[in-house]
Amino acid sequence: MHLLFYPLEVLFMEQTHWQRSSRQSATPLHVQITQYIRDKIVGGEWPVGTRIPSQRKLAEAFNVNRSTIVTALDELTAAGMLEGCKGGGTRVINHTWGALAVTPPTDWGTYVKSGIHRPNLPAVQEINRAEFRPGIIRLGTGELSPELLPDRETSILLRRVADRTPPLGYGEPMGDPSLRELLAARLQQHGITVSASSVLIVSGALQALQLISVGLLERGSTVLVERPSYLYSVPVFQSAGMKLRGVPMDSDGIRADLVNAYARQYNASLLYTIPTFHNPSGTMMSEERRMQLMNASEASGLPLIEDDVYRDLWLDAPPANPLKARDRTGNILYLGSLSKTISPGLRIGWIAGPQPVLERLADIKMQSDYGSSAISQQVAAEWLSSGMYEQHVQQVRELLRARRAAMLNCLNRYFAEIASWNTPAGGFYIWLKLKAQLSARTLFDQALRQNILINPGHLYDRDANQYIRLSYAFASIEDMEHGLARLAAIIRSISC
Ligand SMILES: Cc1ncc(COP(=O)(O)O)c(C=O)c1O
Repeated sequence: MHLLFYPLEVLFMEQTHWQRSSRQSATPLHVQITQYIRDKIVGGEWPVGTRIPSQRKLAEAFNVNRSTIVTALDELTAAGMLEGCKGGGTRVINHTWGALAVTPPTDWGTYVKSGIHRPNLPAVQEINRAEFRPGIIRLGTGELSPELLPDRETSILLRRVADRTPPLGYGEPMGDPSLRELLAARLQQHGITVSASSVLIVSGALQALQLISVGLLERGSTVLVERPSYLYSVPVFQSAGMKLRGVPMDSDGIRADLVNAYARQYNASLLYTIPTFHNPSGTMMSEERRMQLMNASEASGLPLIEDDVYRDLWLDAPPANPLKARDRTGNILYLGSLSKTISPGLRIGWIAGPQPVLERLADIKMQSDYGSSAISQQVAAEWLSSGMYEQHVQQVRELLRARRAAMLNCLNRYFAEIASWNTPAGGFYIWLKLKAQLSARTLFDQALRQNILINPGHLYDRDANQYIRLSYAFASIEDMEHGLARLAAIIRSISC
C-alpha cells in the first residue's frame, strides 16, 4: 500500500477555525479531536493509507498538550481506524468506526502513484505549501509582491467589463478576437510581424508549454534547454514522456556554439530558451548571441520556443528585440504572459507562431478547458487598450529598481564573503552562488524553521547545489533585510 501524506499546512489552516469554536465547548478536547479525525476518515478526506502528522505536529496544530493527542489517537487505534507504521508515524487503516468494512476501501495511494502526470519535485511541493504560512519571508518567489499588484486599477477594469454585457458563454478556440488584435499590435512594437490569426490565447505561459508538450512532440523526444532553466522546475515535458538536456550558459546566454552539437548528439526535437531576463540566472542574451542562436537553429532546422514572459520588466534599458523578430521561416514559437507584470491570477498568456501549429494547439486547448476565462480575456484587453498597462508597468519598473538596489545592498552587507552573484538588468532574479559546499537540504530546512523560504538552485539544474535563486519581486524590503541577514547567519553556521 502506498502512503498518502496529509498536508500539514492544510491542517494548520483548518485548526485555526477549529480552535475558535472548540474551547468554549463542554465536550472534553480529546473527544473533540477524536471526533474531528474520525470525521476526516469516515468522510473520505483522509483515505485509507494516509499518513497522519506526528503527535508533536498535531499538538501544535490543535494547540493542545501532546497527551490530549495521544488519548485521541489511542481511541482511534482501539477502534481499528489507525495503526502505527513500522518506520514511525501513524496511518489510516480503516474508514469505518468500530467494525471492519464489508468491502475493502479503495487504496487511493496506488491510484495517486499511478497517474500519468509526474508530481512536482518534493522541494517544489514543499515550497508551494510553505508559501502560505503566516509570517513566512519568501526570498525566491517568482511573482510580484501584493504591494506591486494593481488591485485598484483591476477593480476599475472589472467594473468596465461588468458594465457591458459580461461574457458568460464559451469563447472561440483561438481566444477573444479583440485581445488577439491588441496583442498582435503589441508584438509589432517588438519587431514581430504577426496578424491576430497567428496569436493563440492560453491560460498562462505554462499552459503553452503543456500544449506544446502534448501537441507537437512524440514521446521519447528530447528538448534542449539552458542549464540552469525554469523548465527543470516544472515536469511538463517529462510528464509527456520527453527528456530535457541542458546546454551550458555564460554571461551572454546559452552557448549557441554548442547547440548544434547537442542537437545532433541527443537527436533533439526542439530548443526552449528564455533569452530575456532568464529564470533563474537573470541573464540577458546579447545581440550577438541572439544572431548566433538564430543561425544555429536555421542551419540545423531546430525549432525554438522563445519564452519572453519577463520582457516588459527591463530596469536599465529596453531589451534587445526578441528572437522571434528575426524569424523569417516560422521556426519560433513565441510565448508571452501577463502574469509577471499584472497578475498571475488572471491566467492570461499567448503563443505567436505558424497558424497550423496554433490551430493544433487550440484544438487541444478546447479539449482540455474550452478556452481561457472570457472575463479574464476581456480584462486583459481593457488593460492593453486603455493605456493603463504601460502606466502600470512603468511604476512596477520603478519599484523593482528600488527592490533590486535593496537586495544588492543586503547582499553586499551580508554575503560579500560567503557568495557571489550577478546584477540583473531586468526581471526578478539574482542567482546567488555560495562559496562553501553545503547541503542544500539542510540549508532549506534550517531557513524554513526560521520562517525563511528559499528556492534552492537544484530545482533549476540538478548540479546547482551551491546556488540559490533569489527574487527581489516578492518580499517587502524590510522582510528582505531580515530574511537575508538571517539566511547569511544560517549559511555561516552550517559552513563551519
Ligand atoms: C520563464 C517562465 N515561463 C513561464 C512561467 C509561467 O508563467 P504563467 O503564469 O504565465 O503560466 C514562468 C513563471 O514563473 C516563468 O518564469
